[in-house]
Amino acid sequence: MNVKEIKHGSSEYQQECALRQEVLRKPLGLNLYDENLAVESEQLHFGLFDDQGQLVACVITVPITATEAKVRQMAVRPSLQGKGFGRLLLEGAEQVMAQRGFRDLFLHSRMTAIGFYERLGYIKNGPEFMEVGTPHVKMCKSLSFSDHSENQGHQNQRQCGCKVTVQPFIWQRS
Ligand SMILES: CC(C)(COP(=O)(O)OP(=O)(O)OC[C@H]1O[C@@H](n2cnc3c(N)ncnc32)[C@H](O)[C@@H]1OP(=O)(O)O)[C@@H](O)C(=O)NCCC(=O)NCCS
Repeated sequence: MNVKEIKHGSSEYQQECALRQEVLRKPLGLNLYDENLAVESEQLHFGLFDDQGQLVACVITVPITATEAKVRQMAVRPSLQGKGFGRLLLEGAEQVMAQRGFRDLFLHSRMTAIGFYERLGYIKNGPEFMEVGTPHVKMCKSLSFSDHSENQGHQNQRQCGCKVTVQPFIWQRS
């Protein structure tokens, strides 16, 4: 398994859109391809690929400021959910974002996914609201840069009030 950045418009991006349509839009009766996907050229796309180059999971980050970014469109292939691949991808994307200077991440979580984000250190921040016809809640996480030994047992608190300890990330898994 490899985490890779996906180039907008590439064949890997087409795989990403197909996965997002299947996992995130079709179940809601929506069509991803009706959306303005051109704006996504400004966004950062990450994919977890198997050894045959097939996309297993995807996620997008959207820079808001030099240090803050939004996480969106997190999806894992249905037959491979619950096996740690979502975690592998999102922690990989977080590591890249941290290396690029981003400190604060936020996202809009569906109610069904809150537990997943909580396991990864995101904290609910605000009331429930509707998006794409389904209830969501805002969640946030602050990224800490220090290495594991410095970071062990240390809880980092930032502006949004989130507390999180970032663990080291392993880029490849057999
Ligand atoms: C939600 C989703 C991205 C999680 O990815 P995943 O690969 O299935 O999750 P992982 O196996 O990496 O789980 C990581 C941890 O989160 C937990 N977890 C995963 N999904 C969860 C859920 N829906 N609710 C509560 N906990 C969950 C796992 O038990 C695991 O806990 P552990 O580290 O203690 O073992 C994936 O299931 C998915 O694509 N769901 C459908 C689309 C979706 O809802 N996307 C999010 C939109 S906001």
